[in-house]
Amino acid sequence: MEHSTMPPLQARGISKSFTLHQRRIDAVREANLSLAAGEVTALVGRSGSGKTTLLQVIGLLTPPDAGEVLIAGNDAWSLSGDARADLRARTLGFVFQSFNLLPQHSAVLNVALPFRGPRRVGLQRAGQLLERVGLADRATHHPSQLSAGEQQRVALARALVNDPQALLADEPTGNLDAANEEQLLDLFRELAAEGRAVLLITHSDTVAARADRVFRMVDGAPTPVPSAAAPDADPILPVEQS
Ligand SMILES: Nc1ncnc2c1ncn2[C@@H]1O[C@H](COP(=O)(O)OP(=O)(O)OP(=O)(O)O)[C@@H](O)[C@H]1O
Ligand SMILES: [Mg+2]
Repeated sequence: MEHSTMPPLQARGISKSFTLHQRRIDAVREANLSLAAGEVTALVGRSGSGKTTLLQVIGLLTPPDAGEVLIAGNDAWSLSGDARADLRARTLGFVFQSFNLLPQHSAVLNVALPFRGPRRVGLQRAGQLLERVGLADRATHHPSQLSAGEQQRVALARALVNDPQALLADEPTGNLDAANEEQLLDLFRELAAEGRAVLLITHSDTVAARADRVFRMVDGAPTPVPSAAAPDADPILPVEQS
Protein backbone atom coordinates (compact mmCIF):
# COMPACT_ATOMS: atom_id res chain seq x y z
CA MET A 1 0.00 0.00 0.00
CA GLU A 2 1.18 3.52 -0.82
CA HIS A 3 1.57 5.77 2.19
CA SER A 4 1.42 9.54 2.25
CA THR A 5 0.85 12.25 4.82
CA MET A 6 -2.22 13.57 2.97
CA PRO A 7 -5.62 12.27 4.10
CA PRO A 8 -6.47 9.45 1.69
CA LEU A 9 -9.87 10.98 0.99
CA GLN A 10 -11.33 14.44 1.52
CA ALA A 11 -14.74 15.63 0.37
CA ARG A 12 -15.54 19.35 0.36
CA GLY A 13 -18.86 21.08 -0.22
CA ILE A 14 -20.53 18.07 -1.86
CA SER A 15 -24.10 18.61 -3.00
CA LYS A 16 -26.26 16.18 -4.94
CA SER A 17 -29.95 16.41 -5.72
CA PHE A 18 -32.34 14.26 -7.73
CA THR A 19 -35.41 15.38 -9.64
CA LEU A 20 -38.13 12.81 -10.06
CA HIS A 21 -41.71 13.54 -11.20
CA GLN A 22 -40.97 17.29 -10.99
CA ARG A 23 -40.03 16.92 -7.34
CA ARG A 24 -36.54 17.83 -6.25
CA ILE A 25 -34.81 15.88 -3.51
CA ASP A 26 -31.68 17.43 -2.02
CA ALA A 27 -30.07 14.17 -0.93
CA VAL A 28 -26.66 15.62 0.01
CA ARG A 29 -26.15 19.28 0.93
CA GLU A 30 -22.73 20.92 1.23
CA ALA A 31 -21.23 17.87 2.85
CA ASN A 32 -17.66 17.84 4.14
CA LEU A 33 -15.88 14.68 5.21
CA SER A 34 -12.24 13.76 5.67
CA LEU A 35 -11.10 10.17 6.16
CA ALA A 36 -7.90 9.51 8.06
CA ALA A 37 -5.54 6.60 7.45
CA GLY A 38 -5.63 4.15 10.33
CA GLU A 39 -9.16 5.06 11.41
CA VAL A 40 -12.57 3.49 11.20
CA THR A 41 -15.21 6.15 10.58
CA ALA A 42 -18.91 5.32 10.91
CA LEU A 43 -21.67 7.19 9.09
CA VAL A 44 -25.11 6.79 10.61
CA GLY A 45 -28.49 8.39 9.94
CA ARG A 46 -32.07 7.53 9.20
CA SER A 47 -33.15 5.78 6.03
CA GLY A 48 -33.26 8.21 3.13
CA SER A 49 -30.89 10.72 4.78
CA GLY A 50 -28.40 10.59 1.89
CA LYS A 51 -25.73 8.18 3.19
CA THR A 52 -25.54 5.98 0.08
CA THR A 53 -25.68 9.02 -2.21
CA LEU A 54 -22.71 10.60 -0.41
CA LEU A 55 -20.78 7.31 -0.50
CA GLN A 56 -21.38 7.00 -4.24
CA VAL A 57 -20.06 10.51 -4.83
CA ILE A 58 -16.92 10.05 -2.73
CA GLY A 59 -16.52 6.54 -4.18
CA LEU A 60 -16.39 8.16 -7.65
CA LEU A 61 -19.51 6.39 -8.91
CA THR A 62 -21.98 9.32 -9.05
CA PRO A 63 -20.90 12.84 -10.03
CA PRO A 64 -21.75 15.61 -7.53
CA ASP A 65 -23.67 18.75 -8.55
CA ALA A 66 -21.10 20.76 -6.59
CA GLY A 67 -18.02 20.19 -4.49
CA GLU A 68 -14.81 18.26 -4.82
CA VAL A 69 -13.44 14.89 -3.80
CA LEU A 70 -9.69 14.84 -3.20
CA ILE A 71 -8.10 11.42 -3.32
CA ALA A 72 -4.47 11.42 -2.24
CA GLY A 73 -4.54 15.11 -3.24
CA ASN A 74 -6.11 14.63 -6.73
CA ASP A 75 -9.39 16.43 -7.48
CA ALA A 76 -10.99 13.22 -8.71
CA TRP A 77 -14.12 14.62 -10.37
CA SER A 78 -12.09 17.03 -12.52
CA LEU A 79 -10.12 14.15 -14.09
CA SER A 80 -11.09 12.49 -17.37
CA GLY A 81 -13.32 9.43 -17.06
CA ASP A 82 -10.42 7.07 -17.77
CA ALA A 83 -8.06 8.76 -15.32
CA ARG A 84 -10.79 8.72 -12.66
CA ALA A 85 -11.52 5.02 -13.23
CA ASP A 86 -7.82 4.31 -12.91
CA LEU A 87 -7.49 6.35 -9.70
CA ARG A 88 -10.58 4.61 -8.31
CA ALA A 89 -9.25 1.13 -9.10
CA ARG A 90 -5.86 1.91 -7.54
CA THR A 91 -7.03 3.59 -4.37
CA LEU A 92 -10.62 2.74 -3.44
CA GLY A 93 -12.41 -0.40 -2.35
CA PHE A 94 -16.20 -0.22 -2.44
CA VAL A 95 -18.74 -2.56 -0.84
CA PHE A 96 -22.23 -1.97 -2.25
CA GLN A 97 -25.37 -2.07 -0.11
CA SER A 98 -26.70 -4.65 -2.61
CA PHE A 99 -23.36 -6.57 -3.08
CA ASN A 100 -23.38 -6.37 -6.95
CA LEU A 101 -21.68 -9.77 -7.41
CA LEU A 102 -21.66 -11.30 -10.89
CA PRO A 103 -24.09 -14.25 -10.75
CA GLN A 104 -22.39 -16.31 -13.47
CA HIS A 105 -19.05 -16.47 -11.63
CA SER A 106 -17.84 -18.29 -8.52
CA ALA A 107 -16.98 -16.42 -5.34
CA VAL A 108 -13.23 -16.64 -5.96
CA LEU A 109 -13.57 -15.34 -9.51
CA ASN A 110 -15.81 -12.49 -8.36
CA VAL A 111 -13.05 -11.45 -5.96
CA ALA A 112 -10.26 -11.91 -8.52
CA LEU A 113 -11.87 -10.15 -11.52
CA PRO A 114 -11.05 -6.51 -10.58
CA PHE A 115 -7.43 -7.41 -9.72
CA ARG A 116 -4.91 -5.23 -11.57
CA GLY A 117 -2.21 -7.74 -12.39
CA PRO A 118 -1.67 -11.29 -13.63
CA ARG A 119 -4.74 -13.51 -13.37
CA ARG A 120 -2.82 -16.22 -11.50
CA VAL A 121 -1.75 -13.73 -8.81
CA GLY A 122 -5.29 -12.36 -8.63
CA LEU A 123 -6.77 -15.81 -8.03
CA GLN A 124 -4.20 -16.54 -5.36
CA ARG A 125 -4.91 -13.25 -3.64
CA ALA A 126 -8.68 -13.86 -3.94
CA GLY A 127 -8.27 -17.20 -2.19
CA GLN A 128 -6.37 -15.54 0.68
CA LEU A 129 -8.99 -12.80 1.02
CA LEU A 130 -11.85 -15.32 1.10
CA GLU A 131 -9.98 -17.05 3.90
CA ARG A 132 -9.63 -13.73 5.69
CA VAL A 133 -13.40 -13.12 5.60
CA GLY A 134 -14.05 -16.70 6.76
CA LEU A 135 -15.21 -18.14 3.43
CA ALA A 136 -12.33 -20.39 2.34
CA ASP A 137 -14.78 -23.28 2.01
CA ARG A 138 -17.18 -21.32 -0.22
CA ALA A 139 -14.70 -20.28 -2.95
CA THR A 140 -16.36 -22.27 -5.73
CA HIS A 141 -19.94 -21.34 -4.78
CA HIS A 142 -21.84 -18.99 -7.07
CA PRO A 143 -23.63 -16.00 -5.51
CA SER A 144 -27.04 -17.76 -5.67
CA GLN A 145 -25.50 -20.59 -3.63
CA LEU A 146 -24.41 -18.23 -0.84
CA SER A 147 -26.38 -16.70 2.01
CA ALA A 148 -26.82 -12.92 2.05
CA GLY A 149 -24.19 -12.55 4.78
CA GLU A 150 -21.77 -14.71 2.79
CA GLN A 151 -22.36 -12.66 -0.38
CA GLN A 152 -21.67 -9.53 1.65
CA ARG A 153 -18.33 -10.96 2.79
CA VAL A 154 -17.42 -11.94 -0.80
CA ALA A 155 -18.15 -8.33 -1.78
CA LEU A 156 -15.80 -7.18 0.99
CA ALA A 157 -13.05 -9.54 -0.18
CA ARG A 158 -13.49 -8.18 -3.73
CA ALA A 159 -13.20 -4.60 -2.45
CA LEU A 160 -9.81 -5.49 -0.93
CA VAL A 161 -8.26 -7.24 -3.93
CA ASN A 162 -6.20 -4.22 -5.05
CA ASP A 163 -5.11 -3.32 -1.51
CA PRO A 164 -6.97 0.03 -1.43
CA GLN A 165 -5.94 3.01 0.73
CA ALA A 166 -9.60 3.70 1.49
CA LEU A 167 -12.36 1.16 2.01
CA LEU A 168 -15.92 2.44 1.66
CA ALA A 169 -18.62 0.03 2.78
CA ASP A 170 -22.40 0.55 2.64
CA GLU A 171 -24.06 -1.43 5.47
CA PRO A 172 -21.40 -4.16 5.39
CA THR A 173 -22.84 -5.99 8.40
CA GLY A 174 -26.50 -5.54 7.52
CA ASN A 175 -27.09 -9.24 6.93
CA LEU A 176 -24.92 -10.70 9.67
CA ASP A 177 -25.72 -12.19 13.07
CA ALA A 178 -24.04 -10.77 16.19
CA ALA A 179 -21.10 -13.23 16.12
CA ASN A 180 -20.32 -12.59 12.46
CA GLU A 181 -20.76 -8.86 12.96
CA GLU A 182 -18.14 -8.93 15.75
CA GLN A 183 -15.75 -10.90 13.52
CA LEU A 184 -16.16 -8.49 10.64
CA LEU A 185 -15.66 -5.54 13.00
CA ASP A 186 -12.38 -7.08 14.12
CA LEU A 187 -11.40 -7.32 10.45
CA PHE A 188 -12.30 -3.64 9.81
CA ARG A 189 -10.16 -2.66 12.79
CA GLU A 190 -7.28 -4.75 11.42
CA LEU A 191 -7.66 -3.18 7.96
CA ALA A 192 -7.47 0.28 9.54
CA ALA A 193 -4.49 -0.73 11.69
CA GLU A 194 -2.69 -1.67 8.46
CA GLY A 195 -2.94 2.02 7.50
CA ARG A 196 -6.18 2.19 5.53
CA ALA A 197 -9.02 4.65 5.96
CA VAL A 198 -12.25 2.70 6.56
CA LEU A 199 -15.71 4.27 6.20
CA LEU A 200 -18.71 2.22 7.25
CA ILE A 201 -22.32 3.20 6.73
CA THR A 202 -24.28 1.48 9.43
CA HIS A 203 -27.58 1.25 11.28
CA SER A 204 -25.89 -0.86 13.97
CA ASP A 205 -25.12 0.69 17.37
CA THR A 206 -22.50 -2.03 17.93
CA VAL A 207 -20.64 -1.04 14.77
CA ALA A 208 -20.84 2.70 15.51
CA ALA A 209 -19.68 2.14 19.11
CA ARG A 210 -16.45 0.51 17.87
CA ALA A 211 -15.62 3.20 15.31
CA ASP A 212 -12.94 5.81 16.00
CA ARG A 213 -15.25 8.59 14.79
CA VAL A 214 -18.98 8.73 14.18
CA PHE A 215 -20.88 11.11 11.90
CA ARG A 216 -24.63 11.41 11.59
CA MET A 217 -26.32 12.67 8.42
CA VAL A 218 -28.21 15.83 9.40
CA ASP A 219 -29.83 17.96 6.69
CA GLY A 220 -27.85 16.14 4.02
CA ALA A 221 -24.42 16.51 5.61
CA PRO A 222 -22.33 14.42 8.02
CA THR A 223 -22.22 16.00 11.49
CA PRO A 224 -19.74 14.77 14.12
CA VAL A 225 -21.25 12.79 16.97
CA PRO A 226 -19.29 13.26 20.23
CA SER A 227 -17.76 9.92 21.20
CA ALA A 228 -19.44 9.88 24.63
CA ALA A 229 -22.94 10.09 23.12
CA ALA A 230 -24.78 6.91 22.25
CA PRO A 231 -25.01 6.55 18.48
CA ASP A 232 -28.80 6.45 18.70
CA ALA A 233 -28.97 9.67 20.74
CA ASP A 234 -30.95 12.57 19.36
CA PRO A 235 -29.44 14.00 16.20
CA ILE A 236 -27.21 17.00 16.72
CA LEU A 237 -29.01 19.96 15.26
CA PRO A 238 -27.12 22.78 13.61
CA VAL A 239 -26.92 25.96 15.66
CA GLU A 240 -29.71 28.38 14.70
CA GLN A 241 -28.50 31.39 12.77
CA SER A 242 -29.73 34.56 14.48
N1 LIG B 1 -31.55 7.88 -8.44
C1 LIG B 1 -32.38 8.53 -7.64
N2 LIG B 1 -33.41 9.25 -8.13
C2 LIG B 1 -34.23 9.94 -7.31
N3 LIG B 1 -34.12 9.98 -5.98
C3 LIG B 1 -33.14 9.29 -5.42
C4 LIG B 1 -32.20 8.52 -6.21
N4 LIG B 1 -31.31 7.94 -5.37
C5 LIG B 1 -31.67 8.31 -4.12
N5 LIG B 1 -32.75 9.12 -4.14
C6 LIG B 1 -33.40 9.75 -2.96
O1 LIG B 1 -32.39 10.44 -2.23
C7 LIG B 1 -32.57 10.28 -0.82
C8 LIG B 1 -31.31 9.70 -0.21
O2 LIG B 1 -31.16 8.34 -0.62
P1 LIG B 1 -29.98 7.42 -0.08
O3 LIG B 1 -30.04 6.15 -0.83
O4 LIG B 1 -28.71 8.19 -0.17
O5 LIG B 1 -30.39 7.21 1.44
P2 LIG B 1 -29.69 6.35 2.60
O6 LIG B 1 -29.36 7.28 3.71
O7 LIG B 1 -28.60 5.54 2.03
O8 LIG B 1 -30.90 5.39 3.10
P3 LIG B 1 -30.87 3.84 3.61
O9 LIG B 1 -30.43 3.89 5.06
O10 LIG B 1 -32.30 3.43 3.47
O11 LIG B 1 -29.96 3.06 2.72
C9 LIG B 1 -33.79 9.40 -0.66
O12 LIG B 1 -34.89 10.22 -0.34
C10 LIG B 1 -33.98 8.74 -2.00
O13 LIG B 1 -35.33 8.49 -2.25
MG1 LIG C 1 -28.33 3.51 1.74
